[in-house]
Amino acid sequence: VVHIDKASKEIPELGEDESYTLEVASNGAKLNAPTTLGALRGLQTFCQLVENTPSGFAVPAVSIQDSPRFPWRGLMIDVGRHFIPLDVLRRNLDGMEAVKLNVFHWHLSENQGFRIESKKLPKLHQLGSDGNFYTQAEVKDLIAYASDRGIRVVPEFDMPGHSTAWLAAYPEIGSGPGPYSVERNWGVMDPAMDPTKEETYKLLGTFIGEMAKLFPDKYFHIGGDEVNGKEWGRNPKVQEFIRSHDLKNNAGLQAYFSDRVSRIVSKNDKITVGWDEILQPSAPKTIVIQSWRGPASLAQAAKQGIHGILSAGYYIDLNHSAAEHYAADPLGDAAAALTPEEQKLVLGGEATMWSEFVSPENIDSRVWPRTAAIAERLWSPQNVTDVNSMYERMYVVSRELDWLGLTHNSGYAPMLRRIANSDDASKLKILADVVEPVKGYKREVLAATTPTSLAPLNRLVDASRPESETARRFGIAVDEYLAGTNKAQNEIELRRWLTIWRDNDAALQPLVSKSFLLVEVAPLSTQLSALAASGLDSLDYLSHGEHPADAWKAQQQGLMDQAKTPGHAQVLIMVAPAVQKLVEAAGR
Ligand code: ACM
Repeated sequence: VVHIDKASKEIPELGEDESYTLEVASNGAKLNAPTTLGALRGLQTFCQLVENTPSGFAVPAVSIQDSPRFPWRGLMIDVGRHFIPLDVLRRNLDGMEAVKLNVFHWHLSENQGFRIESKKLPKLHQLGSDGNFYTQAEVKDLIAYASDRGIRVVPEFDMPGHSTAWLAAYPEIGSGPGPYSVERNWGVMDPAMDPTKEETYKLLGTFIGEMAKLFPDKYFHIGGDEVNGKEWGRNPKVQEFIRSHDLKNNAGLQAYFSDRVSRIVSKNDKITVGWDEILQPSAPKTIVIQSWRGPASLAQAAKQGIHGILSAGYYIDLNHSAAEHYAADPLGDAAAALTPEEQKLVLGGEATMWSEFVSPENIDSRVWPRTAAIAERLWSPQNVTDVNSMYERMYVVSRELDWLGLTHNSGYAPMLRRIANSDDASKLKILADVVEPVKGYKREVLAATTPTSLAPLNRLVDASRPESETARRFGIAVDEYLAGTNKAQNEIELRRWLTIWRDNDAALQPLVSKSFLLVEVAPLSTQLSALAASGLDSLDYLSHGEHPADAWKAQQQGLMDQAKTPGHAQVLIMVAPAVQKLVEAAGR
C-alpha cells in the first residue's frame, strides 16, 4: 500500500522532501511518503529488498525511516568529448533512480563538441558537433524521462574556456585570430571567448535566453574551468582592456566575465553554477560553486556565504577504487571545521564522468557500479563508512543494475571477444579480470601515440574495469592468509588462483597471431604468469618454513618493479601488490 500526502511538482526541484517510511510485515508492505518523490525513493528501497527464494519472491520484514543527507546528489556526463546517445543516457537515468541520485548534470559543450540544437544560433550545432547533437525535442523528452524518475536536469555550457566548438561556429566571439575548428586532441586548450567584446555578451544573451526556456531547472551551469589565458595574453586589445578596467590580470578578467554572464543567467530567472575557478572574493552570494580542485574551495565558498557541491574525490573517469570515492565526504576535510550554518551551504556532490576515454559501449562500466558507492555517501549518514560492507552491497546493486539494462557487466564479454577475434575469449578474460586501466591522467602520458577523439576505444584498457573485483578478493585472501586467518583454506584459494594465472600464458600466446589487438596484451600475460609463479614459490617457502636464496629474492623484486611500471598498454596488473606481500613474507 502506497500512501502519499501530496503530489510533488511535475518537474522536481532542489530541496523537495524525499523522505519515506517503509513497513514490511507478514500481512503486507506499507510505504508512506509526504511527497511523490519520497515514494519513488521508497519504492527503490523496496525493489532492493525483494529476494528470489525457493518458494517465490520474498521481502524481509523491515521498518525503515529514511531521508537523504544531502539534497543535491548528482551524476555529470560529458557528452562533448564523446557524444553519448540518448538511449545510453536513459539507461543511466534508470541507474541513477535505482541508487536515489537526483541530479543529471549534462555537460553539453566542450572543445570537442557542441551537442545541442540551437534554433537561434544554429551554426553552434551545425558547425560544432560533427553532426552529433540532441534536437530540442529530444532534450525535452529526456527531461521528462528524468522528471518521471525524480531527477533534475542541470545543463552546462562551458565558457569562456573549453569553448573551441562554440568558436568553430562563431569565431567573432573568440580572443584569437581564428579560424577555429572542432578540437580532436585532449587537454587544456588555448581558445577562449573574448570577455572584452559586447558582441560576446549579446550572443551569450541570445543563447542563454533560449536554453533557459528549454531547461526548466532553476540552476544553470556556466563552466568557468581551466582558462589557460594564452589567447588573452596574446591579444593586445584584451590586455589593454584589463589595464583600462583595472582588472589586474587574467583572473580579474575572468571574474569580470563570470559576473557579466551571471547577470544574464539571473535575468533569465536562473541561478548560476560554476566550477571553483569562478569563486572570487567579489563573487555574488547567489551562485553555486562546484568544486573539482579540492574540498577547500567548498569551505571557502561557505565562508563567503556561497553554496557548494563537491566533485573532487568523485572523478570516476580517473579509475580510482570505489573505496576511495566512498571516503570522500562533502563535509569532510576543510568543510568539517565550518559552523553548522556554513555547513548547510554544502548542498551535496556529483560524480563526474569526463569522456576522453569513454564511448557508448564502455561508459556504463566507468559509471557503474562505483557511482552506487558515491550515491550512498551522498544519501546515508556520515558515519556509515564500513568499506567491506559497502563492497558486498555494491556488487549486489551492480547485478540489479544489469537487470535495468545497464551494460557495465554485459558489455565486457563482447569487447573481449572482439579483442581476441574469437568466440572464445576465456583466456583473455583471465588476464582482463585482474588488470585495471592506469589511474589519474596517466593514460595520456603512457600512450604510444597521442590519443585523439577519433581513436577507437577498442583495446584491453577500454574493456578492463576501473576496479578489479578479482584483485580485491585476492588481496583480502592474501592479507587473511598472512594474518593467520583461515590459513589452510586461504592457501588453497590462493594456489588455485595463482595456478590459473601462471598457466594461462601458454594458452593465450598462440592467440596473438589472430588479433593485432592482442599484441600489446601478450607481454602482460607473460608478466602475470611470472608474478603468479613467484606467488606460488612464496607459498611453498612459507608452508615448508624454508628460506629463499638471495638470488631468488632479487629476481622477484625485479618482477615487482616491472609490474609497477605500466607501459603503452596502459593497464596495471592489480594482483602485483598482494603477490609482493607474499614474496616479502617468504623472504623474512
Ligand atoms: C574540470 O575538471 N576541469 C572541471
